[in-house]
Amino acid sequence: MSGITIPATGRGPDNAPGKARLRRPIVEMPPHLIGEVARLGIGQKGIIPLWYGESDVATPAFIADAAYAAMQAGETFYTHKLGLPDLREALGAYLSGLYQKPIAAERVSVTSSGMNAIMLALMAILDAGDNMVLVDPVWPNCEQSALAMGASVTRVSLEQQNGVWQLDTQKLLDLCGERTRAIFINSPGNPTGWMMEREQQQEILDFARENGIWIIADEVYSRLVYDRPVAPSFLDIAGSDDPVIGINSFSKAWAMTGWRMGWMVTPLWVTDSLFSMIEYHTACVPPFIQKAGIAAVTEGEWFVREMVERCRAGREAVVPALQAMDRVHIDPPRAAFYAFCKVDGMEDSLAFAKEMFLKTKVGVAPGSSFGPGGEGWLRLCFAQDPKTLAVAMERMAEYLQKN
Ligand SMILES: Cc1ncc(COP(=O)(O)O)c(C=O)c1O
Repeated sequence: MSGITIPATGRGPDNAPGKARLRRPIVEMPPHLIGEVARLGIGQKGIIPLWYGESDVATPAFIADAAYAAMQAGETFYTHKLGLPDLREALGAYLSGLYQKPIAAERVSVTSSGMNAIMLALMAILDAGDNMVLVDPVWPNCEQSALAMGASVTRVSLEQQNGVWQLDTQKLLDLCGERTRAIFINSPGNPTGWMMEREQQQEILDFARENGIWIIADEVYSRLVYDRPVAPSFLDIAGSDDPVIGINSFSKAWAMTGWRMGWMVTPLWVTDSLFSMIEYHTACVPPFIQKAGIAAVTEGEWFVREMVERCRAGREAVVPALQAMDRVHIDPPRAAFYAFCKVDGMEDSLAFAKEMFLKTKVGVAPGSSFGPGGEGWLRLCFAQDPKTLAVAMERMAEYLQKN
């Protein structure tokens, strides 16, 4: 193991040694609580890491081979800022097939991950002092990227009704004020597996159109759905000039978390600005990684189906096991690959997750990282081998009985 020091959190505003300062929103960025638990496992063997949103399956060979072949063929130069034309065309065709409507390749921009796409989108539309409305509980990065721009974030919380997460659309619309420039919707949702249905999407789209508000539709889990081939998408109902920015990623459906590639679908006129933003930011995604992306979207349907089945098996391995634990409450998620469960009597999910990891080697994400409403909950990623999950469930059950 290397002896390098790994920082626990950012530096506080008073720790700067000289007069030079960082911007306030950066100094005030809170630590990533999932990372706080995960850092306990750095360099350790024999742990069961269910804290991050990724499968235990490596990227399939046909994708890796495409990258390798491109590298060997000398495809190591800068590419077009918005992505290789072949990849943009492949994505346009993939999306047009998925949603049974033409989605022009020219509207697709390839980005250095889904996270990078979120940052680019918010950088393009949020000024300091603007506001973004966000549906929570949600992956912390969605809020932090808006706060990093100096914007404010207003949260509207999902509620559980008869075991299904629901959003009160009217509550969301009522929270939009004068300075609201964006509504951020992550559906299927991390950590809840909530899925927004078509009628609600339509209501929000009508409102956004009328009020000049952007919808940031984070649909990175759109293919990991258990009762249909693809989740309802804003792209499905939006016209090509509507104020919708679709965020997506190669990470989840094709097991490519470490490759760092995603894409955005925007109105055509936005791509001119994205061209410049990407130029000044990352210049482009490495060409051999883009070649891997072409293989994924053009030849990878069988793999996406396998991934869904793996996740379905993972869901079956954890949900009944969690339900059998006295203090734990969970309903089966409809999409994504997370079990988000409530634990009776757990007041500090961060402390609990850390302690449980130290005692059991099972790593989970603390609910508090997904917003104030997440305290008292834990999130486990079940995109894993069911046998490993069974061991994790046994250890967790035993730990909960004793603590
Ligand atoms: C809701 C959500 N959006 C976006 C992303 C970004 O994925 P990536 O940056 O790996 O493409 C993630 C990753 O966990 C996520 O959970």
